[in-house]
Amino acid sequence: MDSKSSSYFASDEIAAGNAAYADALGRVVDRTRELLLVAGLRNPRIGEAGGGTRWVWCEGYDWVMGFFSGQLWLSFQLSGDPVFSGAARARRAQFQWVLDNRRAQDHDLGFLFSLHSVADWRMTGDPAAREMALAAARILMSRFREEGGYIQAWSPSGPDDRARSKFANGRMIADTMQNLALLHWAHRETGRQDFREVADGHAATTARYLLREDGTSFHTYVFDPATGEPLRGETHQGYADESCWSRGQAWLLHGFAQCHAATGAAEWLDAARKVAHRTEALMGESAVPVWDFALPADGTHPVDSSAGAVMAAGLLLLASLTEGDEAARWRAFGERCLDGLLASCDLTGDPTAQGLLAHGAAFVHSGRSDTMLPYGDYYFMEALMRAQGHADFFW
Ligand code: GLY
Repeated sequence: MDSKSSSYFASDEIAAGNAAYADALGRVVDRTRELLLVAGLRNPRIGEAGGGTRWVWCEGYDWVMGFFSGQLWLSFQLSGDPVFSGAARARRAQFQWVLDNRRAQDHDLGFLFSLHSVADWRMTGDPAAREMALAAARILMSRFREEGGYIQAWSPSGPDDRARSKFANGRMIADTMQNLALLHWAHRETGRQDFREVADGHAATTARYLLREDGTSFHTYVFDPATGEPLRGETHQGYADESCWSRGQAWLLHGFAQCHAATGAAEWLDAARKVAHRTEALMGESAVPVWDFALPADGTHPVDSSAGAVMAAGLLLLASLTEGDEAARWRAFGERCLDGLLASCDLTGDPTAQGLLAHGAAFVHSGRSDTMLPYGDYYFMEALMRAQGHADFFW
């Protein structure tokens, strides 16, 4: 590890971990600093088509707009350099705009405000950041549907689009598990039981309907919006209704582990173990997951590096929550995923690349694969930090 990289670590003990991970983390922080000059106040949305190494930027609200803030706050945590905290704080008006605009609000408030405002509060103690995060948590909580017991993921767009309403109403999705962290944080912060009840209620419905008996998962599940009667599992971004979309599986793995970390409840640890166990079998010999586990991992179908990054971070979190041989198993599996990303997707050594990871699959049916993704980058950084022993995140 060169001397420049070693300055990114708060303690020599952590820096001494795995030299390859320490070096990669140093490059991640360097790249984040360089991107700031290009980005200004813009947030990455997706890589340019055709595997390009430049970003297409968010225009207004986008569910991915918080990931770069998360990367900035983690860079601040590692380096102490106020250029990172200043850049994250300078984005505050964009997040306030989301709070002020009902149409920009959906279940992804958790991703947005954990990584932007909870992070700000935890890193700087600024009470305005805390208020923003609590406001977002209250809105997220209000999306809970008592009939059915789930947080509704997406919103209808109004009376002129009945098809959209039919699609959105009554639907829960795997991704929401990752948004529950905002509710757990709000519960800890305020002592209000409501936040915890909604998070637990949604996680229980996820474990019952989205998680199949064999440890694979549906991407979405549809309920009768009026009665809450469970109807059927359906995919949105996966290959088929009955298949197992790899990023959805990764959201569940990290999300259940996170719920256990936040609550200590055994049922979420069991659910995380079940997903991890099955995912290990589904991965076979591969180190970067194919975008849907129903498809062969033989190089003929796109991989999803973002699923690999979320999985690596979730497995390393799970390792930190378990002991002995079990912890060693999840750590080895998490490191296999991380090593796969470093071996075949890492862009941090390419000085022309604006992102960190190649070969993400945003939405294969819509032609968005083999691309950089801001969530892939964020979770890659989180996984590298977890592998080095860091335990302070904003979830
Ligand atoms: N949460 C949307 C996705 O994973 O693509």
